[in-house]
Amino acid sequence: MHFDAALDARLQIELETITEAAPSFAKDVLAGLSANPKTLPPMYFYDAAGSKLFEKICELPEYYLTRTERAILQRDAPEIVARANGEMALVELGSGSSSKTRLLIEALIARQNHLHYFPIDISPTILAHSAKQLLRDYPELLVTAYVADYDTGFRRIAAEHFTQKLVIFLGSSLGNFEPQQAHTLLRNIRQQLNDDDYFLLGTDMQKDSRILHAAYNDAQGITAAFNLNLLRRINRELAGEFDVDLFEHVAFYNVARSRIEMHLRSKTVQNICVGRLDRSFHFAKGETIHTENSHKYNLEQIKKICAYTGFRLVQRWQDNRGYFSLNLLAPA
Ligand code: AVJ
Repeated sequence: MHFDAALDARLQIELETITEAAPSFAKDVLAGLSANPKTLPPMYFYDAAGSKLFEKICELPEYYLTRTERAILQRDAPEIVARANGEMALVELGSGSSSKTRLLIEALIARQNHLHYFPIDISPTILAHSAKQLLRDYPELLVTAYVADYDTGFRRIAAEHFTQKLVIFLGSSLGNFEPQQAHTLLRNIRQQLNDDDYFLLGTDMQKDSRILHAAYNDAQGITAAFNLNLLRRINRELAGEFDVDLFEHVAFYNVARSRIEMHLRSKTVQNICVGRLDRSFHFAKGETIHTENSHKYNLEQIKKICAYTGFRLVQRWQDNRGYFSLNLLAPA
């Protein structure tokens, strides 16, 4: 990509954070495939190939989440940023392509003429690419990007930057966490915030399970490819010997726990060798690897999350159907 010195001066990419608390793919795969039932953490979906597949998911007709959240931002971004005091910085947990974030960036620039944006993401390729696109499109923008997990990245930003902050966590990515883990993450964030900072949380809402089911079982099979990419990634990075044709994508709504669960199911009995781990893993026919939970929320749960984590719910914005909501939180 063409990139000139003028843009370069407005971009800083912080990589060192991944070396300290580096979550290790090898270690997590070993632990997850040795466990009973087998699991793999969803953060590993997002290598270069997986991030591309996720971008495709966001455009699927069945996957209403991204489009619905974008529509809310299109309508309400000016109101969402109305609490900025003129020096508000924008921090994003799991920024990905930052495509919806543009609506908040534009609303903030309209108010304060300039903006310092701090995206945090675990995919360095996506992060660098989207930062450069943003700098090209917004001359008023400064970007300091952190290749890190949410906790590590945000701790660094909060320790080093002291203006008012709007921290955003979009796409219902919080839904990947078990309730206890979600509380811990939000509590950690809350502890780093000042009284005049805000936290914007995107949450996918509980709805007809047929709509949820379709969103994770798309007709084109993109979600299946995204899920199976985890096995391909093990093959690529850890010398794994998975035959992806011998596994199938499974996604269903677990009503009792109000979450979509994704699994990879072995179609046959097999032993899979993973070279870099010096191990092989036995799969019974029909045995699954649990790869993701995607929790769906209601207003009561959102209020509880706030109460448990030291936040108050300031304001909410929803689409007409109530499929998705953006929740503005502030220190209680
Ligand atoms: C990025 C975690 C919000 O749970 O809907 C999309 C990921 N998984 N399709 C979601 C995902 C399957 C997505 N989040």
